[in-house]
Amino acid sequence: MTVAPTAPLLFFDSGVGGLSILGPSRAALPNAPVVYAADSAGFPYGTKSEAEIAARVPALLGRLVERYRPRLAVIACNTASTIALPVVRAALDIPVVGTVPAIKPAALLSRSRVLGVLGTDATVRQPYVDRLAAEFGNDCIVLRHGSAALVQLAEAKLRGETLDPAVARDALSGLLDQPGGDRMDVAVLACTHFPLVEEELAAAAPHPIRFVHGGEGIARRIAYLTQGQPWPDAPPPGTAVFTRVNDDVHALEKALAGYGLARIEAL
Ligand code: DGL
Repeated sequence: MTVAPTAPLLFFDSGVGGLSILGPSRAALPNAPVVYAADSAGFPYGTKSEAEIAARVPALLGRLVERYRPRLAVIACNTASTIALPVVRAALDIPVVGTVPAIKPAALLSRSRVLGVLGTDATVRQPYVDRLAAEFGNDCIVLRHGSAALVQLAEAKLRGETLDPAVARDALSGLLDQPGGDRMDVAVLACTHFPLVEEELAAAAPHPIRFVHGGEGIARRIAYLTQGQPWPDAPPPGTAVFTRVNDDVHALEKALAGYGLARIEAL
């Protein structure tokens, strides 16, 4: 199948979290046309049921693909990926890259063999996470904690608001206060919002903790899947599309521009 140089990469998340995936992807493929889609009307995903997410995400991606005709779609959201990735893949006729907790690289890094998985409530309870922990961390204690407040913190940070340091501290305590938690040396940021507040998490850590996430790995995967395809000669302005455009979205304009997203549209 021939791909037009203007065919974009489509990134999808409930909110701004997917920017932590878009960042490394733009660094790897600077001339890629980009559409960043946020389901602001459905945000947040992490406190929703599996059924709600499984019904919502494939339908939205179908509409987005029809409108923007991307060459590839990235579900830049752990919650949506761990629940709906197979259904989305079956429904679309383009490659779909998912975002799943980076337990494998975390297990390779850990010396204490105590890992943390910090995600949304919906992600940390997924059997997908059980499988990753069994496959790659079977000699590790894999602690899990879900934090909806940390998702909100990342959104607030990108809106330029003043942040409460207690939020990052409480989220980390959710892991550190579990049995063995005092030995945790690596934490997987298993929600794409969390790398956006990595600085706040590091500042809240009582001892050095390495934070790992999948952004760079996904960028490499996109580069591999689009190898040999044509791109524009210069970086084109990107588009951000929201399922609901309100004041919160307008407050994100500056942060979005920093990721090359110059245009805002409503779906
Ligand atoms: N960024 C999303 C994730 O990676 C979900 C955040 C939310 O909407 O709760 O899980």
